[in-house]
Amino acid sequence: MTERNRRILWFVVFIGCLLPAGDLLYRAFTGDLGADPVETLIRTTGDWAIKFLVAGLLLTPLTRILKNPLPVRFRRMIGLYAFFYVCIHLSLYLGLDQGLDVPAIVKDVLKRPYITFGMMAFLLLVPLAITSTRKMVARLGPKKWRQLHRAVYVAASFGVIHYYLLVKLDITWPLIYGTILAVALLWRVWQALPRDSTIRAAKSKSGATKSVAPL
Ligand code: HEM
Repeated sequence: MTERNRRILWFVVFIGCLLPAGDLLYRAFTGDLGADPVETLIRTTGDWAIKFLVAGLLLTPLTRILKNPLPVRFRRMIGLYAFFYVCIHLSLYLGLDQGLDVPAIVKDVLKRPYITFGMMAFLLLVPLAITSTRKMVARLGPKKWRQLHRAVYVAASFGVIHYYLLVKLDITWPLIYGTILAVALLWRVWQALPRDSTIRAAKSKSGATKSVAPL
């Protein structure tokens, strides 16, 4: 793919990710948010937050499976969009649902487990969003940066638990997201396992290759 086409694709994806927010804004202005507009706003932004969060975790496996570097190039954008939708989701909850009543919010976070998990997911995503720039990768060093960004799996798990705890009847979607998350995580663990060649290289370095049966 040429550099020009790559830029066009980047722009199309960027605008595409903004469409759900645009749609909500349009529906808010045209009074098309149903009987409980606040609930619609909070639920819809929560839905998009989890979609982007989980989608972002699939981009690295997709890149390796397709042997094409394109998907992983969108990882930062998709991750930041997940954070963008979580921020709107949280702001709507704090402002419209709780009326910025701090004691009530603290009480809610401590009393309702699904709010506790949502808040923990948000707090974990903050340092990841802050350190998502190239400058921060360079400042932390790639190894430390990668270690820190593994926390995205924990944040996504908390997001899924948050969703699971709040749905009362139909747990289909929390289960689907949970399964995708588990598969992505297992795939990463499997990828991180030392390959035969890596083990052999390490052993031949220490002079142990000949005496050990192949793994
Ligand atoms: C990574 C962070 C988060 C994710 C991925 C997330 C995701 C979701 C999802 C998927 C829903 C349900 C949407 C639906 O019913 O279709 C939801 C609902 C909700 N979330 Fe979050 N959320 C997050 C953080 C938070 C935080 C930090 C708060 C508040 C402190 C919060 C408060 C709520 C509330 C109040 C609802 C609506 C519950 C209801 O209508 O009964 N969420 N969220």
